[in-house]
Amino acid sequence: MRIFITGGSGLMGSKAAQIALARGHEVFSGYAHNQPVFGQAVRFDLEDNKGISDLMERLRPEVVIHSAALTDVDRCEREKDLAYRVNVEGTRALARAAEKAGSFLIYISTDYIFDGSRGMYREDDRTNPANYYGYTKLQGEQFCRGCIARACVTYGSRPASGKINFALWLINSLKSGQEVRVVTDQFITPTLNTNLARMVLEAGDKRLCGVYHLAGATRISRYDFALELAREFDLDHSLILPSRMKDLKWTAKRPMDSSLDTSKAKRDLKESPDGLEDSLKILKAEVEYQSRQKSKG
Ligand SMILES: NC(=O)c1ccc[n+]([C@@H]2O[C@H](COP(=O)([O-])OP(=O)(O)OC[C@H]3O[C@@H](n4cnc5c(N)ncnc54)[C@H](OP(=O)(O)O)[C@@H]3O)[C@@H](O)[C@H]2O)c1
Repeated sequence: MRIFITGGSGLMGSKAAQIALARGHEVFSGYAHNQPVFGQAVRFDLEDNKGISDLMERLRPEVVIHSAALTDVDRCEREKDLAYRVNVEGTRALARAAEKAGSFLIYISTDYIFDGSRGMYREDDRTNPANYYGYTKLQGEQFCRGCIARACVTYGSRPASGKINFALWLINSLKSGQEVRVVTDQFITPTLNTNLARMVLEAGDKRLCGVYHLAGATRISRYDFALELAREFDLDHSLILPSRMKDLKWTAKRPMDSSLDTSKAKRDLKESPDGLEDSLKILKAEVEYQSRQKSKG
């Protein structure tokens, strides 16, 4: 398959590129600033409509995985025009170009399209974004005629797009003996990028249309998630101090319980949402493999 992954340098996109390459697919990895590690790197700017349509005409991919976005939630709140241009207008331009090129589009969306007042949301539950990032991602959904894949708090074994994710941040902090504050009153279904990427690639293979919650299968508070990470990696959990969402200085409001119900994905996919225990074992194996590779030089 010829696959174009936007956000190929990002946490989700880089893992999808790595797995798709290993399966023998032809992979193009779109990036804006950070060179992707996997796939054929192609410069791609969500603010350049003409560039998007030219690129799609040139690549003519069978499947497009659209994972690129302005993902900094607080920045989206502060720079609303930019967030709108990238996440809404960019997605509209890409969706049009994909349709013209006959490509199947998978749009990676988010749990933040829900307000978090209830949790364990199903695909057809009422959306009501709590912040501007969520609003732009929800607007993006309406342009996608293929698959809309909603994830929740993604983590993985490598830094991506110049950032480390929550799990790596926690592991690194505890390893260096640093205390961390983690909220007890935010509930999520954490999603390992490897599990997400495999589900997304299967959705592409099967040309699965409609909305899917492609998240981890375990609902947990962020604090307990941190404790589970410490346990799996044999780290000092006493360094994890409980805090509350109201004590954190976030610009954008966060949903309190944006956990996602994944039963539809479990029903329709072979690669189904993993429980936290299995995901953490995979994460640990990946981290250990990478450090062995590094020490081999
Ligand atoms: N991370 C989460 O917890 C989470 C949860 C639910 C849903 N999602 C969704 O999942 C998708 C992937 O998220 P992620 O965490 O993997 O992302 P990420 O690591 O933050 O990476 C973002 C990607 O978007 C690219 N990008 C940013 N601005 C761009 C622009 N103007 N034009 C073209 N590309 C641009 C970046 O390229 P450069 O690196 O080159 O700048 C990077 O590859 C996003 O759509 C996000 O909304 C994420």
